[in-house]
Amino acid sequence: MNKATSVYLFLFLTKSGKGHPERNIPMVKRKTKFICQECGYESPKWMGKCPGCGQWNKMTEEVEVSGPARRGAFAHSQGGSAILSKPTPITSIESVSEPRIHTDLTELNRVLGGGVVKGSLVLIGGDPGIGKSTLLLQVSSQLANKGHQVLYISGEESLRQTKLRAERLDIASENLMVYAETNLEEINRTIDQTNPSFVIIDSIQTVFHPEVTSAPGSVSQVRECTAELMRIGKTKGIAIFIVGHVTKEGSIAGPRLLEHMVDTVLYFEGERHHTYRILRAVKNRFGSTNEMGIFEMKEFGLEEVENPSEIFLEERSRGAAGSTVVASMEGTRPVLVEIQALISPTSFGNPRRMATGIDHNRVPLLMAVLEKRVGMLLANQDAYLKVAGGVKLDEPAIDLAIAVSIASSFRDVPTRPTDCVIGEVGLTGEVRRVSRIEQRVQEAAKMGFERIILPANNLSGWKGPEGIQLIGVSSVSEALQAALGG
Ligand code: TYD
Ligand code: MG
Repeated sequence: MNKATSVYLFLFLTKSGKGHPERNIPMVKRKTKFICQECGYESPKWMGKCPGCGQWNKMTEEVEVSGPARRGAFAHSQGGSAILSKPTPITSIESVSEPRIHTDLTELNRVLGGGVVKGSLVLIGGDPGIGKSTLLLQVSSQLANKGHQVLYISGEESLRQTKLRAERLDIASENLMVYAETNLEEINRTIDQTNPSFVIIDSIQTVFHPEVTSAPGSVSQVRECTAELMRIGKTKGIAIFIVGHVTKEGSIAGPRLLEHMVDTVLYFEGERHHTYRILRAVKNRFGSTNEMGIFEMKEFGLEEVENPSEIFLEERSRGAAGSTVVASMEGTRPVLVEIQALISPTSFGNPRRMATGIDHNRVPLLMAVLEKRVGMLLANQDAYLKVAGGVKLDEPAIDLAIAVSIASSFRDVPTRPTDCVIGEVGLTGEVRRVSRIEQRVQEAAKMGFERIILPANNLSGWKGPEGIQLIGVSSVSEALQAALGG
C-alpha cells in the first residue's frame, strides 16, 4: 500500500466513523460538561456568567458519552456536505439556481424564497398549538399529491392521532408515509429504506441520538440530532423540515446554536385567541429574510390570506383618536397596518412607555422629538403603543405614523380614516425618505385610501397614481398640520 492510498484509507475510515484500524479500541468516555442554554458555549466547569454571550445563570450540566463515531458524524455535518472540496477560482464555478419544488401554498413558497430547495434543512419554530403540525401535514400532502415521496415522522403524536388530523384536513395520499419514532438511528435506517424526497421531523425536542445520554430536548441532544439530520439531508439530497418548540424565553430549544446550523429558520406566530397566523423567515440561505406569509386557521386546516391589508384594517374603528394607518414593507410586499396609541396622564411615579409590535425604544425617542421639536408636553404622560392585528413591524418608515398616532391621542383629535402616513423621523424632527414608495402608495390606493402623507423628498420627480392626493412633508410638525390640522 503506497502512502497516498493509506492516507486516503485513513481519512475514509475516520470519516465513516470506524476509527483508525490500529486504534480502534471501543471508546466509551463519560464526561460532564456545562453548556450555555443561550449561545451553546461549552465549558468543563460551571460558571455563573457565560464567557460566550455574557449572560448569567445560563450554564446547565449535561452528561454525554463521546466516541469516535459521533465525532465522525459531526465532522460531516459541520462542513455541510460529505464531498471533499478544494479551493476553486470563483469564475469557474457553475452558477446554477437551486432547484426548487413548489408547494400549493404560495405564502409558504414566498417565505422560503420561491419554494423548497432540495437538500435544505428548514427549522419551523413556534409556540405549542400554533399550527406547526397542521401546516407541515398540509404541505406534506400537497407534495405527496405531486408524486414526491414524503416521510412524516411524529414523535409527539401517535399514528392514530396523526390520522385523525389528516382526516380533518381531508388528506389521503399513497405517497405520504407516517411514522411514529423518536430514535434517530431508526429514523436514519427508515430514511434509507423508504428513500423519501421530503422528511418532516415533528419535533426535534422529542428525537434522541442513542449515543448521547442526555435527555431528549436537552442542548446536546437537539444539537447532535440536528447535525445528524443535516448530514443525512445533504448527502442524500432530501429536504428536511424540523419542528422546534419555542421555549419561554422565545428561542427554539434554548440555544441560538440551532439557528446557525440549519439553512432556513421560519417562525410561525400569532395570538392563540386570533385565527390569523404569520409565518416569517428569520434566516434563509436561499432567499430574503423579511418575507412574511399570512394564514388563517380554519376548522379544516390553514388557509392562505391573499390580501393581508384587508384583515389588518378589518377591525379599525374609524374616527377614533390615536389611530393611524401606515403602509409598511414586509419583504417584497406592502402591507397596510393600523398603529394605535393611547396617551394618558401619569397617575403615579414614572410615566410608562409600552409598545407591542414595534421596537419599544422607538417610542421614547419619537416622544422626545415631539416634545422638543413640536413642543408637546409628554413628560408626564403614559404612552401605550400597539400594532393592531398582532403583526411586528421593524422598519423606520413607520416612525411618522407612530408620531401622528401619539399626537392624535394626546390632542384627542382623530386622523381622517382615509389617510395613510409614511415616513422615517430623524432626531431634528425632519421626515426622511423611505424606500419603495411607489409600491406603498399603490397598496394604499388599492385599499381605498385618498390622502397619503409622505416624505417630501420621495416626491421629487414623481407624481403618484391618478385620483390619490399625495402630501409631501419635510418635518414632523408639517405632518401633524396635514394629518390633524392646526
Ligand atoms: P397543531 O398543528 O397541533 O399545533 P402545533 O403542532 O404547533 O403544536 O395545531 C393545533 C391547533 O390548531 C389546535 O388548537 C386545533 C387547531 N386546528 C384547527 O383549528 N383546525 C384544524 O383543521 C386543525 C388540524 C387544527
Ligand atoms: Mg405539533
